[in-house]
Amino acid sequence: RPEPPRRSGGHGRPLREPGVTPGARGKFVTLEGIDGAGKSTHVAFLADRMRARGHAVVTTREPGGTPTGEALRQLLLHEPMDHDTETLLMFAARREHVLRVIGPALARGDWVLCDRFTDATWAYQGGGHGVDGGRIAWLEQWVHGDCRPDLTILFDVPLPVSRERLERASAEGRRLDKFEREGDGFPERVRAVYLARSRAEPARFRVVDSTRPQEAVRADLARIVEAL
Ligand code: TMP
Repeated sequence: RPEPPRRSGGHGRPLREPGVTPGARGKFVTLEGIDGAGKSTHVAFLADRMRARGHAVVTTREPGGTPTGEALRQLLLHEPMDHDTETLLMFAARREHVLRVIGPALARGDWVLCDRFTDATWAYQGGGHGVDGGRIAWLEQWVHGDCRPDLTILFDVPLPVSRERLERASAEGRRLDKFEREGDGFPERVRAVYLARSRAEPARFRVVDSTRPQEAVRADLARIVEAL
């Protein structure tokens, strides 16, 4: 297998904006968890806490965050497809996102709060669908090189809690996406990869027990932001 390219992408644009020293770069914070872990409900709260500390904050999500990424999101969440195709499209959306939104924001010194990033590909495509880790590692290096999260908050819930939340959402009329409808041990494998990654990189990950009431979760999140 060839070595992945190091610093720049196919059309030669560096992934880190020129003239930006690493210390001046804003913080890149990502949120992760299995479906039904409740992470998205905390995005606005986290952004407010960061702004209260004087930072400009860009909130965004994956797959998505750009017009191309949002168009790919529709396909990825609702069209059945080969698992390698799915992985490639996740990274295609990510490439646009890093080049047009995440990289420029960090270079300005803004903080970026992103609902999912490449840990989700390791968990869902790698763990859930069994896509080869070597391929994911290669794409990760190609697509975003050194642009990696400074901090990742993993919202963790056991499977029965996630299942119950998704069933409730479905009963209330929300159309579940392709990943939320996966059975056959899929969510268990996704959660196992997330937890393994959090154990492998304890300095980057904060694991939050998301089964507790919202106020308790928010108290943890406030402490995490204070310590950043
Ligand atoms: P969301 O429901 O948190 O917005 O995420 C959309 C879905 O996309 C979620 O089920 C996880 C899935 N996903 C992947 O499978 N791989 C990825 O790389 C990303 C970013 C999301």
